[in-house]
Amino acid sequence: MQLDLEGKVAIVTGGSKGIGRATALSLIAEGASVLVCARGQEALDETVRLAGEQAAGKIVAMSADLTQGEVITAVVARCVAEFGRVDILVNNAGSARPGDFLELPDEAWLDDWTLKFFGYMRMARAVLPHMQHQQGGVIVNVIGTGALKPMGNYMIGGAANAALNHFTKALADEGSKKKVRVVGVNPGPILTERLQRFISTFSPQSGSPEEALQKMTPIGRVGQPEEVADLILFLASDRAAFIHGANITIDGGANQGLMG
Ligand SMILES: NC(=O)c1ccc[n+]([C@@H]2O[C@H](COP(=O)([O-])OP(=O)(O)OC[C@H]3O[C@@H](n4cnc5c(N)ncnc54)[C@H](OP(=O)(O)O)[C@@H]3O)[C@@H](O)[C@H]2O)c1
Repeated sequence: MQLDLEGKVAIVTGGSKGIGRATALSLIAEGASVLVCARGQEALDETVRLAGEQAAGKIVAMSADLTQGEVITAVVARCVAEFGRVDILVNNAGSARPGDFLELPDEAWLDDWTLKFFGYMRMARAVLPHMQHQQGGVIVNVIGTGALKPMGNYMIGGAANAALNHFTKALADEGSKKKVRVVGVNPGPILTERLQRFISTFSPQSGSPEEALQKMTPIGRVGQPEEVADLILFLASDRAAFIHGANITIDGGANQGLMG
């Protein structure tokens, strides 16, 4: 399938590792130009290296802490300064800590929502005027199946994800007036640093880490970042032009409810 992403300009937040890196590299492989941002310079540099020679002049890596509103403004300004436009925003930088409800203080809720909810909302608010001016654009929010399966030990992330599923639909309603398409992706367990950090919380009774990973889905394996990247690229392309305001699950069948 031809995705026709050649010449498109994308911002991928959290593009230095995991799902974000896989998405940035796939976009580059399809001929898009990409600004990747994250805090750590080393992983950003490695992403640029992995993009290879084909990415010369087409990838910009920007160190940015997306919990800061003014940094978000600077990221979007840098993309427009380097590439002249923003066609695709992949809102992906996020992490929320698991933990015992009674032990998580306000600061934990506020910190994690500042990145996962406010980071996504602020990035969307910063790119929307550019996309409206260009008469088109796509925003893909990488959220999480924690939205669909409330769990006592993952309330901060689950509640943020539920809010982002709502936000995706509400932003799509707003985007319709501005020729901006908005979609959400809800990944289940995907093999990234983040999942490896969380494994003992979500499969505490399992034996080895390998067994724990196998038990996370009914198909006996977790997902790869590249599998999520494939979905994101399709959704960001015009092949998905009729998909708008939808939150799409990619979880190897882990969520067996009717929703998602
Ligand atoms: N992996 C899963 O199983 C899974 C499941 C459901 C949902 N998700 C969602 O998918 C997204 C990507 O997850 P992942 O597993 O790929 O995570 P990851 O491997 O931990 O990568 C996270 C990326 O975000 C960046 N980041 C973290 N804090 C940041 C900040 N304050 N400002 C800017 N960048 C920041 C990280 O770089 P620095 O640390 O250097 O900043 C890194 O590039 C997240 O939103 C996550 O909630 C993942």
